[in-house]
Amino acid sequence: MAKSKFERLPGFRDFTPEELDGVLHIFDSWRTVSTRYGFSEYGGPPLELLDLYVEKSGEEIVQQLYNFQDKGQRKIALRPEMTPSLARILAGRHRAMAKPIRWFSLPQLFRYERQQRGRLREHFQWNVDIVGEQGVGADVEVLAVALDGLRELGLRENHIVARVSDRKLMTEILLVLGVKPDNVSTVFTIIDKMERTKVNRSMDRLCAEAELDTEAAEKVLEICYEDQIEVLRQKFEASISITERLDVLQIYIESLEAKGLGAYVQFDLKIVRGLAYYTGIVFEIFDRAGDLRAICGGGRYDRLLELVGGDPLPAVGFGMGDVVLGELLRIRKLFKPESAKVDLFLVIVGEEQRTLALSIAHNQRENGLTVLYGLRPETVGKQLEMASKIGACQVLMLAPDELERGLVVLKDMKTGEQREMRLEEFIT
Ligand code: HAM
Repeated sequence: MAKSKFERLPGFRDFTPEELDGVLHIFDSWRTVSTRYGFSEYGGPPLELLDLYVEKSGEEIVQQLYNFQDKGQRKIALRPEMTPSLARILAGRHRAMAKPIRWFSLPQLFRYERQQRGRLREHFQWNVDIVGEQGVGADVEVLAVALDGLRELGLRENHIVARVSDRKLMTEILLVLGVKPDNVSTVFTIIDKMERTKVNRSMDRLCAEAELDTEAAEKVLEICYEDQIEVLRQKFEASISITERLDVLQIYIESLEAKGLGAYVQFDLKIVRGLAYYTGIVFEIFDRAGDLRAICGGGRYDRLLELVGGDPLPAVGFGMGDVVLGELLRIRKLFKPESAKVDLFLVIVGEEQRTLALSIAHNQRENGLTVLYGLRPETVGKQLEMASKIGACQVLMLAPDELERGLVVLKDMKTGEQREMRLEEFIT
């Protein structure tokens, strides 16, 4: 293949029709499930003011921003995520809307991060959010949508798992373990990375950055592996705030069980989420084999609308990317890309029949069929070859001798069966 003078930027993708077909198949499932749950689709601009993300999204994502100064000297960012845009859109106009607001979107997002397996510099992300509902019922609904979006694509509990936790619960636990309130967010950052970091390194960071002594740091790391709500209940029975949060989590998990999704859900305190704005229950969905990065992440963020200048409004939602998901579907052989279907190919035997061919093609296209024909004069052999190459279901031969008798020949490309029929009969 000749090398182009202009190479594609690293971390970006081209989409040939076959490749795009895979993405559109994912989009179809996402849209179907969103609609089934009563969510309405919205959109927003790919560029936003840089300030929308600074301090609200957290250090990591701000480091990964594509940003520039525009000709009006504004500091601009390409959107790395959709949630701040959603908060901005609703902050200005939610008052006129019935609550809770159930919105979804399929934006393309941009992050200048190191390209690695499952992480690119652009991706499509299904965003589903419920705004204006404080109760845990909204958290349950949101995770159910995410899981159903994956189930719609053929993934089951042996393929995926939703690891769930609660930032409020974890905050209370950390305070009991001796973390100073000002250092809680630093500890979250360290926990968020702990599975991809050596234990010693996490310990060192807890001591150096979160001002913990070795014993407290050890306790923090140890508690992250406690996966039984009952054990936590006993361990922290003296703390009412911890007990209350455990009650909420229990309702959350039991409600997902009631929806028949219990087998997909696992309590896991190591999930705290990298983004700064989350305030309550959080979750991430992974492949069971544990080979891939997170497929989906989300949770409750009750303060974001206020942070972008709106009224305080509770919110919960998630983002699910197409990159890791596409990879998982390929590994599990769940991709069923369908090549575009051509219903009819017209073989124009002599150029005198082209006018008739154009009229038939137009009429049949208006009837909803996919119709193709050679755009320039070709031998009958070449035209038939083209019809079979593109997988046409049927071929209509427009030959002068038959047409003189008012006939056309229709060939079924699958069975090879050929039959003569009257032209008017074919047209009607
Ligand atoms: P996030 O965890 O940053 O959350 O991203 C959500 C998902 O998007 C990830 O689990 C992953 O599948 C995909 N993703 C993120 N970065 C990349 C990348 N560089 N390449 C490929 N895929 C990627 C958020 O963005 C939140 N705003 C989600 C949210 C919506 N929370 C509440 N509402």
